[in-house]
Amino acid sequence: MSQSLFAALQALVGARHVQSSEEAAPYLTDKQGRYVGQVIAAVHPASTEEVAAVVRACVATDTPVVVQGGNTGLMGGATPDASGRAVLLLLDRMNRVRAVDTDNDTLTVEAGCILQTVQEVARTAGRLFPLSLGAEGSCTLGGNLGTNAGGTAVLRYGNTRELTLGLEVVTAQGEIWNGLRGLRKDNTGYDLRDLFIGSEGTLGIITAATLKLFPLPKAQVTALLAFDSLEQAVALLSHARAGFGASLTAFELLSAECLALLREQFPDGPRPFSSARQPWFALLELSDNHSESHAREVFEQVLGEAFEQHLLADALIAENLAQSQAFWQLRENMSDAQKRAGRNIKHDISVPISQVAAFVAHTDALLQQHFPGVRHYTFGHLGDGNLHYNVAHPLDATVDAHMAHYAALSRLVHDSAHAHGGSISAEHGIGQRKVNVLGRYKSAVELDLMRRIKQALDPLNLLNPGKVLEDMRP
Ligand code: MLT
Ligand code: ZN
Repeated sequence: MSQSLFAALQALVGARHVQSSEEAAPYLTDKQGRYVGQVIAAVHPASTEEVAAVVRACVATDTPVVVQGGNTGLMGGATPDASGRAVLLLLDRMNRVRAVDTDNDTLTVEAGCILQTVQEVARTAGRLFPLSLGAEGSCTLGGNLGTNAGGTAVLRYGNTRELTLGLEVVTAQGEIWNGLRGLRKDNTGYDLRDLFIGSEGTLGIITAATLKLFPLPKAQVTALLAFDSLEQAVALLSHARAGFGASLTAFELLSAECLALLREQFPDGPRPFSSARQPWFALLELSDNHSESHAREVFEQVLGEAFEQHLLADALIAENLAQSQAFWQLRENMSDAQKRAGRNIKHDISVPISQVAAFVAHTDALLQQHFPGVRHYTFGHLGDGNLHYNVAHPLDATVDAHMAHYAALSRLVHDSAHAHGGSISAEHGIGQRKVNVLGRYKSAVELDLMRRIKQALDPLNLLNPGKVLEDMRP
């Protein structure tokens, strides 16, 4: 059976574009090296019609289909299981720009486009596509759509879902839905677009999207701020929102422990605030549609008021592009700094911004009580209430001993986020990593609705089985 499917796939997309499991090895391990899969074949179709034909061939042989973008996800959502039953679908040949419409401020691109390329195409057209995240040089738009990726500009522009007007999707039956509408208003029934976005390849295969574009800012001001407490950082954020309005485009948090780790792991990197005593820092970015001088004027006025109201302890303002890039480099290096320092227990929680300080105080104390000596590396998108609440091993314990507590420690963190009105996955998705814990935080009604949607759209459970929801095959 699998031999004849392999040959059928070769006939559909060309023999050069079908790989065996051995040849596809780099795609079969997730970025964290946590999951390793096997497949019948990895297929690289060149068009939506070819994707649809591949799906139909899989349906005919009862073969699961797993779609993967840049393989930068953190939840194992794009890694097939180890059974070797699935076909892996790679959309790297589907990377065309289909249309740029500057009057409508939209861009239509295929799912295999690298995010950075999408940003560059927009920039060439004199526009901004604002989705921005650490992996932008290798993640693809399809992966961003599949996971409803967030990143560092959500505060101003929203998640991938808010940046998308239309989609083209291959259904679980191998039909093509052309929903590439560039409409900002369209109340014609159920919102299929928003159902497919964030479904992690479990409801359909997104092959192209029509995206929103924005004006390119004329000037930007970047500053690194120091705070005496997390409460103070939250109060400053509120002040900055009121003072800057839509010009506030980033507010990214780093703890003092994070800055120290960055200095340790990147000794040649930037070292701002190296002798500061404050426990919290934030990178603030203001984008201005007028001019550099207007940006500075507004910035100084709002920050001046903040100092008078004791809403911050100190501020470093980037004087030029190089300094601004150095501040951003700190934030963007944070994941790698932790990777270099060894394995740790990562979380991607969100709570209402008003609950952030209470969440951190409560959860830090709880973890010290149950796992004394663990080290907290808390950073992330404070402007979205989204924290990467990461926990490293106590200095007197081994990494392995610490990692053995993964489930118990994470449960405390997730329970705490939930109790503070939050989510256990703000932007990284569920994948296979969090399938087993999702049921603890969603009501039976919500989970049942999700299962019924999956059942309705993919009754044979062939699309990325076992991701988001437990495998529903009989
Ligand atoms: C980030 O914001 O840096 C990432 O979402 C976190 C990560 O890669 O762990
Ligand atoms: Zn993040």
